Amino acid sequence: MSRAIVFEEPGGPEVLRLADVAEPQAGPGQVRVMVRAAGVQPFDVAVVEGWLPAGADAAYPRTPGNEFAGVIDRLGEGVTGFAVGDEVLGFTVLNAYREHLVIPSEQVTAKPPGMPWEVAGGFTAPAQTAYNSLEELEVGEHDTLLVHGAAGAVGTVAVQLGRLWGATVIGAARETQHDYLRSLGALPVDYGDGFTGRVRELAPNGVVTAALDGVGGTALDATLELVEDRSRIITLYDHDRAAALGVRLSPARRTAARLADMVALYTRGEVKWHIHRTFPLERAADAHRAYKAGGIRGKIVLTVD
Ligand SMILES: NC(=O)c1ccc[n+]([C@@H]2O[C@H](COP(=O)([O-])OP(=O)(O)OC[C@H]3O[C@@H](n4cnc5c(N)ncnc54)[C@H](OP(=O)(O)O)[C@@H]3O)[C@@H](O)[C@H]2O)c1
Repeated sequence: MSRAIVFEEPGGPEVLRLADVAEPQAGPGQVRVMVRAAGVQPFDVAVVEGWLPAGADAAYPRTPGNEFAGVIDRLGEGVTGFAVGDEVLGFTVLNAYREHLVIPSEQVTAKPPGMPWEVAGGFTAPAQTAYNSLEELEVGEHDTLLVHGAAGAVGTVAVQLGRLWGATVIGAARETQHDYLRSLGALPVDYGDGFTGRVRELAPNGVVTAALDGVGGTALDATLELVEDRSRIITLYDHDRAAALGVRLSPARRTAARLADMVALYTRGEVKWHIHRTFPLERAADAHRAYKAGGIRGKIVLTVD
């Protein structure tokens, strides 16, 4: 048998429980990964509350978890380029909160020995979301980029990538996160009354040219005032309003090759990761409670012993 976090009906963190499940077997083209760490994301919270992502199996029990790292312990027929014992990280739609995960081999890439498990387990989603979004926005050295939710997981990466690609980056977050944002290379700004004025004061010539919005609502409204070209705004949150407003969504194009590119940036020390807190797998419900309490800096990650 194998352990997994499951839920039988939608709800809050309290519906998550540890269960013994059948050990999954790797089929053709798949690897089986003994999971060592899995990131906790807003995506997972929505899944537990009943949202079913495209392509996911609607049957209960369901297991959340969209990103993971672990050790390959079985190879399915026809898999090349990997061996039993390889340390990898990767992405899935659901199912990562478990001991044994079966996954197509194209959805994993090598984990460098120097990358801690908790970093690798919570790496994929923020790395790929930030990279794909900033690439889509064509962020470069002439830009002033505004990042909302800048101290969160995606924001932490987006701020650093924006700086790496030569942009001035303004990071919006609550005041307690401002020293952290400065350490990432952002000019920090607080939310609340007068937000757009404060952003303009920080921006060279008062102009913001691109924005990544991980917050939505009034943050997106303010962004519409600040960024003239709406095609240079991506919202990660207000999907329903995006088309009507003429702003964009993050492109859904996760690949192992892109993940490997991001891992290389991490290995070279060009992008740093911050782990807010780890919880053992069996405390997934507490991890979700901690996530929902807010004030997160970087990632919450589940670890599997
Ligand atoms: N492909 C995709 O489209 C994709 C992929 C991954 C994530 N996402 C989305 O991107 C967003 C960010 O994801 P994440 O993993 O970075 O989440 P996260 O780690 O929870 O970060 C979100 C940040 O936004 C801040 N925030 C949220 N609401 C706020 C508000 N009303 N006022 C001020 N600050 C607020 C939070 O700060 P406090 O905790 O201090 O409030 C937190 O720092 C989420 O909406 C997520 O669903 C999209």
